[in-house]
Amino acid sequence: MQTSSNDALKLAAAQEALKHVLPNRVLGVGSGSTVNIFIALLKDIAHTIPGAVAASEGSASALRGVGIAVLDPNSVADIAVYIDGADEVDNNLMLIKGGGAALAREKVLASAADLFVCMVDQSKRVERLGKFALPVEVIPMATQLVCRRIMALGGVPAVRGGVTTDNGNSIIDVLGLPFADPVALETLLNQLPGAVCNGVFARRRADICITAGVGGIQVQRA
Ligand code: 5RP
Repeated sequence: MQTSSNDALKLAAAQEALKHVLPNRVLGVGSGSTVNIFIALLKDIAHTIPGAVAASEGSASALRGVGIAVLDPNSVADIAVYIDGADEVDNNLMLIKGGGAALAREKVLASAADLFVCMVDQSKRVERLGKFALPVEVIPMATQLVCRRIMALGGVPAVRGGVTTDNGNSIIDVLGLPFADPVALETLLNQLPGAVCNGVFARRRADICITAGVGGIQVQRA
């Protein structure tokens, strides 16, 4: 359950992230509760943003609600800045994402962006990734096959009940995988047939992480 103090920290992180929005440039927007707070803040500068690409239908709807045009990523050649939250962030700005089941579109937009700004409250900062169950998006007919392959890698999979992604897929949450080398783990999971995306963001990590804590804002650059 989210606490109000956590909400205050998310708001502080989102206010800092607002400084990275570039006028007259396409903005990439992720998904989640921190992003929802960030989108609400965009209302005052919506007239400076020609359009945005969104990582979820929910974010797209919220963007339209503050007066920002939502663009088809296929029609956008250049995303200047992508701003998103995360479930875990390590000291190298590698991430676990996908708690909100939007990981596939998030990874596409993060990969396409010139600059990836991550904004989190301090509870998301970790020494080593992997305490948060790693989301893996799979096409539904491959769910059990991917679960078996994950178990063969030493992981403990749990199919997320009642969740269908915006892409019509299922989510498997995985504990127990080896995170000593996040790039290697991401690459390995990329090779599972039927897995569309995994929530390790190591090959394309954040360029900037804004962390809001009780002591204030910390901005870390890769
Ligand atoms: C959604 C995500 C979110 O960025 C992540 O779950 C963090 O969400 P929140 O800001 O609600 O804590 O990856 O797929």
